[in-house]
Amino acid sequence: MSSERRTAPAAALASALSETAAAIETLLDALLQDKPEPGEAHRPARLLAAMRHGALAGGKRLRPFLVVETARLFGVPVEQAARAGAAVELAHCYSLVHDDLPAMDDDDTRRGRPTVHKAYDEATAILAGDGLLTLAFDVIADPRTHPDGETRAAIILLFARALGLGGMVGGQMLDLSAEGRFAADGAPDKLGEAEIRRMQAMKTGALLAGSVLIGARLGQADPARMAALERYGKALGAAFQVADDILDLEASPEQMGKATAKDDAKGKATLVTALGLDSAKRARDRLSGEAIAALAVFGSEAALLRAAAEFTAQRKS
Ligand code: IPE
Ligand code: IPE
Ligand code: MG
Ligand code: MG
Ligand code: MG
Repeated sequence: MSSERRTAPAAALASALSETAAAIETLLDALLQDKPEPGEAHRPARLLAAMRHGALAGGKRLRPFLVVETARLFGVPVEQAARAGAAVELAHCYSLVHDDLPAMDDDDTRRGRPTVHKAYDEATAILAGDGLLTLAFDVIADPRTHPDGETRAAIILLFARALGLGGMVGGQMLDLSAEGRFAADGAPDKLGEAEIRRMQAMKTGALLAGSVLIGARLGQADPARMAALERYGKALGAAFQVADDILDLEASPEQMGKATAKDDAKGKATLVTALGLDSAKRARDRLSGEAIAALAVFGSEAALLRAAAEFTAQRKS
């Protein structure tokens, strides 16, 4: 195999993922302490505890890994990229806390523990999600994340675009609409394949691709490398959600740390329901192959990112 195609062995990826996860956990723990930061009045104990519940202990920490590993391609030290990675993980955790609320997917278990609204209550979970998202922007905007104001502004913009109306939040709206719950407003009750792909690119792909782009921008990537990494991030993001939908059907709740076999019962629009399981698996594998192919220009330096694309498709949790 040529060095342009080299993929790191699964064991190397597993140890790199757990190293990043440990660094992110330490950072998140430090960010979620009861001592107020300058400019803050007081940190309410119940809200802080609920935010810690939503952000600490568990999770693959794949998004911060993508930030850190992409930045590393350009020589950015882990200590610098890790803060941007922590910001991305905080936003991801907020999305999970809200996604699990009774008004949305109504789930009781996440990362092998009760969801935040189960451990606390709904109002606290809504505020905990709000608090995690706001903290994410606090962390990414802080000069400690990058000393150069222009770079910081650029990554904040990438972050906001990934998360908002035309990104994750918009995708969550389309996901709920596709259940048919707003049919009275004339929303279509059944999405076609292209519409499902767009919804998934927004609800899940945008933040995964955004993580890659934030890492690339921290590394001052030139436009050609930025474009290659964007292709990688989008394909990986799409593969990730198809894999999640397949795992909902094939994996146990113990494996996933969350309920499975729920999508069909809720009438979720997924590539599994639109194409069937076998075609969905082929789509997942093709997307992970596309992600790997997009990295050709990087050579063996990108071996761990290639392995991350393989892991995304083949993961069991
Ligand atoms: C779960 O994301 C939500 C989806 C986008 C499918 P992850 O599978 O990355 O969840 P954690 O962070 O590892 O718990
Ligand atoms: C979640 O998609 C996407 C976001 C949280 C933005 P799912 O609803 O499929 O995720 P799980 O299966 O609950 O983790
Ligand atoms: Mg959902
Ligand atoms: Mg859900
Ligand atoms: Mg799911």
